[in-house]
Amino acid sequence: MSNNDWHFIANKAKSLVNEAAQQIKKSLKNERIVEYKSNPNDLVTEMDKQIESFFDEEIKKEFPSHLILGEEGAGKEISTLDGTVWIIDPIDGTTNFVHQQRHFAISVGIYEDGVGKVGIIFDVMADELFMAVAGEGAFLNGVKLPSLNEAIVKEALIAVNSGWIIKDERLISLVRDCRGTRAYGAAAIEMASVCANRTDAYISLNLSPWDFAAGAILIKELGGKITTVEGNELNLLKPSSICVAKPGLYEQLQSHYFNRK
Ligand code: IPD
Ligand code: CA
Ligand code: CA
Ligand code: CA
Repeated sequence: MSNNDWHFIANKAKSLVNEAAQQIKKSLKNERIVEYKSNPNDLVTEMDKQIESFFDEEIKKEFPSHLILGEEGAGKEISTLDGTVWIIDPIDGTTNFVHQQRHFAISVGIYEDGVGKVGIIFDVMADELFMAVAGEGAFLNGVKLPSLNEAIVKEALIAVNSGWIIKDERLISLVRDCRGTRAYGAAAIEMASVCANRTDAYISLNLSPWDFAAGAILIKELGGKITTVEGNELNLLKPSSICVAKPGLYEQLQSHYFNRK
C-alpha cells in the first residue's frame, strides 16, 4: 500500500475514534449496564460492546478486506496477522469508566502483515488524541511529540500497578530504586504517558494484544523500546507481559532487574 493509502486509512481511523468518543461521552448521562467476565473485577459494559460493534461495522463497510480483532469478541478466530488487521480496544480502562467516568481510552492499532502502521490512543475525557503513522512521527492533538530522551532508574517515574508489585520480587527492587511509581489503570493511557514524557516506563505482567497494539506503534515511533518483560519481541496474537521504556532506561531495566545474568 502507498503512503497515500495509509494516510487515507489513518484519517478514517481518526474520525471513527472521534465518533466513538462522542458516543461514549453522550452515554455518560445514562445508567451503565455492568456485567462480569472472568471474575467480579473483570467488568464489561454495554458501551464496550456497542463501541466495538460500531468499529466492526464501519470498518467492514469502508474496507471490506480488512480484519478486526477486538477485546469484546471481534475476530476471535484470527490466527495470523496476514493482511491488514485493526486491533481495537473499544474502552481501555473499563473499571475507570464504571467507577470514575474518566481515565479511559479508545485504542486502535492497524497492522499490515504484522508490521505496525497506524497507532491511535484517545484519552476520551482528557480530549487527548495520540496518533502515529509509521515513519512520520507521533502527534498529540496534532502537535508533533519530541523523540524520547534517555532516562535512568534512579530518576525515573515508572507506571506499574500494585497488584503486580506484591507478586514479583523483581518489581519490589525496582520500586525501591526508582524515583516514584504511578498507576492510571488503563494500559493505553500508561503507554501514552510515556509518549508524552509524563512517565519514563510502564511495566505489566499480563496484557492482551488490544491493550498494547496502538501503544507499541506510538512508542517505537518516538524511539522508545517495547518488549515482553523478559526482553522478547511482542506477539500481537497472544497475551504477554510488557516492558515499555525510554532508551537507556530500557537497557537498565533489562540488565539490572529482568534479565540478570
Ligand atoms: C485493562 C486495563 C488495565 C490493565 C488490565 C487491562 P480493560 O483493560 O488496561 O490497566 O491492567 O490488564 O485488561 O479491560 O479495561 O480494557
Ligand atoms: Ca476488559
Ligand atoms: Ca484494555
Ligand atoms: Ca477494553
